[in-house]
Order: sequence, then C-alpha cells, then structure tokens
Amino acid sequence: MTAPDASGFAHRFVPGNSEGPTLLLLHGTGGDENDLLPLGRELLPGAAMLSPRGRVLENGMPRFFRRFGEGRFDLEDLKVQTELLATFIREAAAKYGFDSSKLIAVGYSNGANIAGSLLLTEPRLLAGAILFRPMIPFVPESLPDLSAIPVYLSAGRRDPIIPPQQTSALADMLTNAGAAVSMHWHNGGHELGEDDVVSAREWLAKTKTHIR
Ligand code: MLT
Repeated sequence: MTAPDASGFAHRFVPGNSEGPTLLLLHGTGGDENDLLPLGRELLPGAAMLSPRGRVLENGMPRFFRRFGEGRFDLEDLKVQTELLATFIREAAAKYGFDSSKLIAVGYSNGANIAGSLLLTEPRLLAGAILFRPMIPFVPESLPDLSAIPVYLSAGRRDPIIPPQQTSALADMLTNAGAAVSMHWHNGGHELGEDDVVSAREWLAKTKTHIR
C-alpha cells in the first residue's frame, strides 16, 4: 500500500512494460487496492495498473461512495467522491507518467458503479471501461457524449445484489449516450466466473487497438 496522496486515496501503481492502455482498477465493497491486481494481470498482461482504495468506510469495509442501504446510493456523496477520484486520476497520471488518454477502467460491483459515474460525469476521462456487475449509479439530467467509447458490461443472471435488469438499463443508457456497448451474461450470481474473465480479456484484446 502507498500512503494516501493529496486526494486521500491509498493506492497501488504498477508500471507497465508496454505503451498500451493503463488499467484503472476499482474494487468492490470490502476490497482494497490489492484486490483486482491479479484480475488486471489476467485481463492485459504487462499493462500499467492504477488501483485506488475507496475512501469511504461502511462498517470497516472500504467503498467508493456512501449508500443508505443495498442499491440506495447517497447521490451527494457519489458526486463528491466521483470528483475526488477524477482529480486523483489526473494527479496520478502526472506523477507516474502514464498516458491518461489510454485509461481503461476495470470495476467490480461498487467499483463498477463509480466507474459508471465517471463515464456519466467526466466523459473524456476514460478511453473505455469494463464493468462487472454494475447498475445505474444515478440518472443524469442530460446524457454525456460517449461517442465511440467502448464499454464492456457483465451481469449475473442470478445476481441477488445487482438485479440484471439494472445492468441492461445501464447498457441502454450508455448506448443512448453513443458508447459502443458489449454485454456479457454470466449464468451465475454476483461473484465473477471464469467466463467473465475470458470474455472481458477477449473484448480488451480486440478493443485496445482502436481506443481513441
Ligand atoms: C455492492 O455491494 O458493492 C453493491 O451492491 C454495489 C454498490 O453498492 O455500489
């Protein structure tokens, strides 16, 4: 773990060994900055990885923003934390020297939800996103322009935490905003399956060559 920086995010940065995209890893509730590093290595071996820890604690479990209950988000806090995360990302790009125009978010559950919030509020910050088990983080007053931004979404057909129709609704919202959306259906629940990893890896291999 590294010490929190000015934006207050403890994080890990793993330098890459190629000029390709940098992965922004965003863990689920109760995770930390170490959680998704193995997943990142599986998705794109050799890629640089920036992995912050959510700043909010819920009964001792790190998250990226507060909630009042399952699926009931504190939208004020979501807005503030999304802005702080965007600032952290910009500062980290300058500090570690990665190409911020090639940043691909990889989020799981709560991490996928703040990645969705970043897409909706800071549409130029991410070059693409892989969102495992996401839902609509909030409904924006107007849709941002996400033209040509590739987004991969994965939902669990029997997910008791993220109703799969929420992920479909997010897919529709992002498509309406112009994103190039790919949807994967996992036959299990909230946990990631091997099929999630394999299909996201294949999507990334195809996508990384033509990110803007
Ligand atoms: C979670 O437990 O992480 C959620 O259900 C998703 C969220 O709260 O953002």
